[in-house]
Amino acid sequence: MKRRDWLKISAITSIGLAFAKNTLAKTAIHYNRKYPFSKKDFGNEFIWGAACAAYQVEGAWNVDGKGASIWDTFTHKKRKIHNHDNGDQACDFYQNYKNDIALAASLNLDVFRFSISWSRIFPTGKNTINTKGVQFYHQVIATCKKQGIEPWITLYHWDLPQELQDEGGWTNRKILHWFEEYVDFCTKEYGDVVKNWMVMNEPAAFVGLGYMLGYHAPGKKGPFNFLKATHHACLAMADGGRIIRKNIKDANVGTTFSCSPVEPYKNKTNNRKAVQRIDTLINRLYIEPSLGLGYPYDGFPALRRIENYFEEGDLERLKFDFDFIGLQNYFRIVGKKAIWPPLVWAKEVPASKRNVPKNEMDFEIYPEGMYEILKQFGQYDGIKNIIITENGVCFKDEIVNGKIHDEERIQFFKDYLQNILKAKKEGVPVNGYFVWSLTDNFEWSEGYEPRFGLIYVDFETQKRYVKDSGYWFQEMLQD
Ligand code: BGC
Repeated sequence: MKRRDWLKISAITSIGLAFAKNTLAKTAIHYNRKYPFSKKDFGNEFIWGAACAAYQVEGAWNVDGKGASIWDTFTHKKRKIHNHDNGDQACDFYQNYKNDIALAASLNLDVFRFSISWSRIFPTGKNTINTKGVQFYHQVIATCKKQGIEPWITLYHWDLPQELQDEGGWTNRKILHWFEEYVDFCTKEYGDVVKNWMVMNEPAAFVGLGYMLGYHAPGKKGPFNFLKATHHACLAMADGGRIIRKNIKDANVGTTFSCSPVEPYKNKTNNRKAVQRIDTLINRLYIEPSLGLGYPYDGFPALRRIENYFEEGDLERLKFDFDFIGLQNYFRIVGKKAIWPPLVWAKEVPASKRNVPKNEMDFEIYPEGMYEILKQFGQYDGIKNIIITENGVCFKDEIVNGKIHDEERIQFFKDYLQNILKAKKEGVPVNGYFVWSLTDNFEWSEGYEPRFGLIYVDFETQKRYVKDSGYWFQEMLQD
C-alpha cells in the first residue's frame, strides 16, 4: 500500500463502499534571519514543542517485560509495511531517551510530547503491571524535568495490547473498562509530576485505517467494525478525560484530532455537496460528540446506524469538556462528486493529479489549510484552547558531511506558522505548536523512508544529526 494520505483519505471515503548522540550542537548556524515573524508575535504564553509516539520511536518491543501490541503483531506477521520494516528497534528511544530529550532542550523547545505504550505498563492490557515499564516512563519524565522541558503525555497513540485485540479490541465494549483501568493507573502514577495529558491520538486515523480498511493494525475491515470502534473510541475519549480530571489536581486535559480542510474540485456546485460528506467523516465525526452535539448525522445520514451500538446514557457519556483540543494537520483534501463509493458519492482528487506542491508521501503542501482548519474548529462553542499537537513534513533528506540542509522544511515551517499567527490574530484561541517530529522515526505503513524529524536518525548506527530545520527552531526560539 502506497502513501499514507491516500490511506487516511480512503479510509474515510470508502465507508460508503462498505456500508454498502550526535552531541549537542552548541554552535548555532546562522540562517536567513528574515523570519516573517518572531517568537514574540505569538506571545509569551504560546508553547513550542516536538512530538513523537511510543511505537514509532521506542524500539525494545519485547524488553524488560513489555507485552506485544497490535503493531508488533501486525508488522511481524502481516508484512504489510513498506520494505517489511517494523518498530522492533526504531530510534531505540528506550536506550536513547536521555540524549534525545537533551537534544530537544538544545533546540529551545518548551515541551516534549510522547505517548505511553500500554503494553509496556500492562503487558496483557489489564490486571498485571510491569514495574520496569512503569519505571521507564518515570525516567523519561524525570529527564524532561531535568532538561527544563515539560512532558506532555498521550495515553493512546495506536499501540493497543495484542491480548485485548484477541478479545476484539476497540470493537468490544469491554475496552471501556480496560481503558479506564489503564488511564486510572497512569494518571495516579505520573499525575503528581505531569499535568498535561492527551487521551488519544487521532481516533479517525486509528479507527478508519485499523478497523475499516485494514491497512493499519489490527488490520480489521468492514463497516460494522468501523461503527463499533468509532463509538467505543468516542466514549473512551470522554471517559479518559473524566479520569484525568478526577485523579490529577490542576490537570490540563486534552485529546487530539486529525483535521484537513476539504474543498470542492474546481469549486463546482456539484462537487460542493459531495465534499460536505467527506468533511463530516474527516473533521466532524469524532469531535462533535464530545462537544455535546452528538454524531453528525446531518452531514452523513448513514451514520445513524451507529445507534445500534448505543446503551442507555451513552449520549451523555460522550460529552466531555476538554481544556484544550489538539489539532493535527498535514494536507488538504480536494474532492469531487462520484458514482462510487455508494453513500459517500464522492472521491478525492489526489495531489498528484492537481499539479500542486507535495511532500515525500504525496501530501499536498498547503499552508493556508492550517488557517482554514483553525477557523473551522475555532467556530465550535466550547473550544477553549487549541494546541497544534502535530504538524510537519517529510522530504528526502540528504546527509552530506554530517549536515542536512533541509531548506524546504524550513520554508514549510515559516509558511505554516505564519498561517497560525494569522488565525491567532483574528481571535482563534491557538496557543501552542508541536513539530512532528523530534527525530525521524517509524512512519507506520510507510516504514522508515519518510523522514519527518528535526533530527536525522541513521537507523543503522542510531547516530543523530540535527537538521538545519532544527537549528532554525533553535535560533528562532532563543530568548
Ligand atoms: C500521526 C503520526 C504520524 C504523522 C505523519 C499523524 O497522523 O499521529 O503518528 O507519524 O501523522 O503521518
